[in-house]
Amino acid sequence: MRYIIVGTGNISNTYVAALQKLSGSELIGAVSRSERPLRTAPGLPIWKSLADVDQAFDAVILATPNGLHHQGALQAAALGKHVLTEKPLDISRAAMDEMIAACASAGVILAVCYQRRTSPDNQTIKKLLAQNAFGKIFAADLSAKFFRDQAYYDSGAYRGTWAVDGGGPFMQQACHNIDIYTWFFGLPAKVSSVLGRFAHEMEAEDHGAAILQHSNGMIGTIIASTAARPGFAARLEVHCEKGSFTLTDDRITFWDITGISNPADTQFSYAHDGATSAAVTDTTAHETIIRDFEMAARTGSEPLASAESARLTTELILQIYANDTAKTISTRRSD
Ligand SMILES: NC(=O)c1ccc[n+]([C@@H]2O[C@H](COP(=O)([O-])OP(=O)(O)OC[C@H]3O[C@@H](n4cnc5c(N)ncnc54)[C@H](OP(=O)(O)O)[C@@H]3O)[C@@H](O)[C@H]2O)c1
Repeated sequence: MRYIIVGTGNISNTYVAALQKLSGSELIGAVSRSERPLRTAPGLPIWKSLADVDQAFDAVILATPNGLHHQGALQAAALGKHVLTEKPLDISRAAMDEMIAACASAGVILAVCYQRRTSPDNQTIKKLLAQNAFGKIFAADLSAKFFRDQAYYDSGAYRGTWAVDGGGPFMQQACHNIDIYTWFFGLPAKVSSVLGRFAHEMEAEDHGAAILQHSNGMIGTIIASTAARPGFAARLEVHCEKGSFTLTDDRITFWDITGISNPADTQFSYAHDGATSAAVTDTTAHETIIRDFEMAARTGSEPLASAESARLTTELILQIYANDTAKTISTRRSD
């Protein structure tokens, strides 16, 4: 599979390193409006737009800001190229629907890099949930208390904006963890939230909490933050008829479920310091996402994070923003 990366910022380095490790996968070059070269592959060609690319390629990786993913997907679909986009799928319902429809009608794959789905423990929980192995689940509590300094938000004029980033930590950092929540439990029937901004100069929230009521009665809570210094590992605590379990950074760290011995994969060694940094230096999960994407493109299999399933994650985040009872932050959203 021959790739063009669109966007040559932070996360593009993760793809350069991942693609270098994968035999049969080749990075042809990248697209950057400012013609900024790839930092870790400076010799590769740079084009100002996808339409200018004059070498053969099969797929694009979208590494542009959140609210620009649909633009890249539409351009790629028009060229008949498969699309692997960085998370989130996009930040509005209309954009997501448009990109899903364009890729479907072009017959190309649209997959999303929600790499936490590659965690063996997350995959085990997903299978056990499908088997209804836990009995009635009455509570799921996600804590995604991260920290980013002001320099992070100042590093791009779009960071922390509603129009391009799509929000603060709910849409940008914790969307990975909210994606796991949604992958496990689906969308709630009711959402209420309180959002605030405490530690940064930015447009959107930097801390907030949501309470979710599911149609089966389960009560969920989600806390997302980039103001919680120094930044903490993400935790998902689940309570059910048969006991409780906890995932910390996508690993099972507590297990007390009657009748099922702890299924934690102790060999799993993926390290992602999302609590304190936007850089992804361990490329293992991105490599798995790329391999899965290539399988989908070759065989038509459903990607691990299909566009349709990733759409639910943005949907939940939009509901959290829309139901902010404090209304001090989210009323500034334009849509
Ligand atoms: N999976 C993960 O763990 C992970 C981690 C970090 C980030 N991400 C995602 O990766 C994407 C990119 O994040 P990043 O941290 O790499 O961003 P970044 O460092 O700011 O890079 C963004 C790139 O997009 C290009 N771009 C095109 N149009 C732009 C516009 N209107 N405004 C700003 N930049 C524009 C920029 O280059 P030009 O201006 O030259 O075109 C730049 O190369 C985001 O969707 C983010 O959520 C995912």
